[in-house]
Amino acid sequence: MKEIMQKLRDASLRAISESQDSENLESLRVRYLGKKGELTQILRQMGKLSPEERPKMGQMANQLREEIEKAVEQRRAELMDAMMDLKLQQETVDVTLPGKPAVAGHKHPMYNVLDQIKEIFVGMGFEIVDGPEVELADYNFTKLNIDEGHPSREWTDTFYFTEDSSILLRTQTSPMQIHAMETRPLPIRMIAPGRVYRKDEVDATHSPMFHQIEGMVIDKGVTMSDLKATLNLVVEKIYGKGTVTRFRPHHFPFTEPSCEMDIQCHKCGGKGCPTCKGEGWIEVLGAGMVHPKVLAGCGIDPDVYSGWAFGMGLERLAMGEYKITDLRLIFENDIRFLEQF
Ligand code: DAH
Repeated sequence: MKEIMQKLRDASLRAISESQDSENLESLRVRYLGKKGELTQILRQMGKLSPEERPKMGQMANQLREEIEKAVEQRRAELMDAMMDLKLQQETVDVTLPGKPAVAGHKHPMYNVLDQIKEIFVGMGFEIVDGPEVELADYNFTKLNIDEGHPSREWTDTFYFTEDSSILLRTQTSPMQIHAMETRPLPIRMIAPGRVYRKDEVDATHSPMFHQIEGMVIDKGVTMSDLKATLNLVVEKIYGKGTVTRFRPHHFPFTEPSCEMDIQCHKCGGKGCPTCKGEGWIEVLGAGMVHPKVLAGCGIDPDVYSGWAFGMGLERLAMGEYKITDLRLIFENDIRFLEQF
């Protein structure tokens, strides 16, 4: 029995000292010291020994148990240390490496154009006003003299929130004319830039969300020549002195008379080129004299006061200024695109 224990001692201590990971070490511990372990098996046979030998063997067995336990503990500590060293080595941080620079962004090119326009109008004494994008049909249409049956009210064109078509995402910034007239003292000189929404499929020139800038002046004795002079001045500031404009008759329900303003193509000087699609002119905005019915609806006496208004698309303006050919680039926010401005 003594020899068996000796053999067990040699084998177990070697196996433990050679163990390479804690799982293997644990299985060795079970193998030697567990309930069905090798040492226990030996102890079971103690009954066969003579009464004199029994205590000696018992003592030896206990010593061996202690020895194996100690060896397991020691090996466990060694393995833990080795693991920690390895981890430290793998996770070393080189504090002398240069850091990553923090990149500061900049204003979106379209908002640069908007800032430029705001500055021009503020310089002329205009106020910048803001209003709701979720709007009542009353403000988006009815108070702007747009009848019930008007095609722009169609469900196919407009995002409505209610079955009765009373609440919607504004399709134009023109309702800001009504808000201004209802809440502000006269005279009014304001611009109202903001997002508008229409059910358009996305392509190179359309997006279901885009930006408009509304402008309006209400005062005594305001005429169409004030409108033309103001807009010509704005165009010269944006496109340079001598930029030629033309005002074409048009129809909008909320202005009378109404017009559209074109600028002569700055690329070809009016000869016709890809930028102006061969037309020589580029359409910039819709405008007109605020309809007497609209004034009266807002409690302003059209016999005393008159006014003009305009609405223009901001994306189109930015695209012209920066020679951007696809509207989607403005909204995709691809850093490779934005960094060019
Ligand atoms: N709201 C019009 C549109 O979205 C543009 C417009 C035309 C605005 C004439 C005006 C205006 O203020 O007088 O097409």
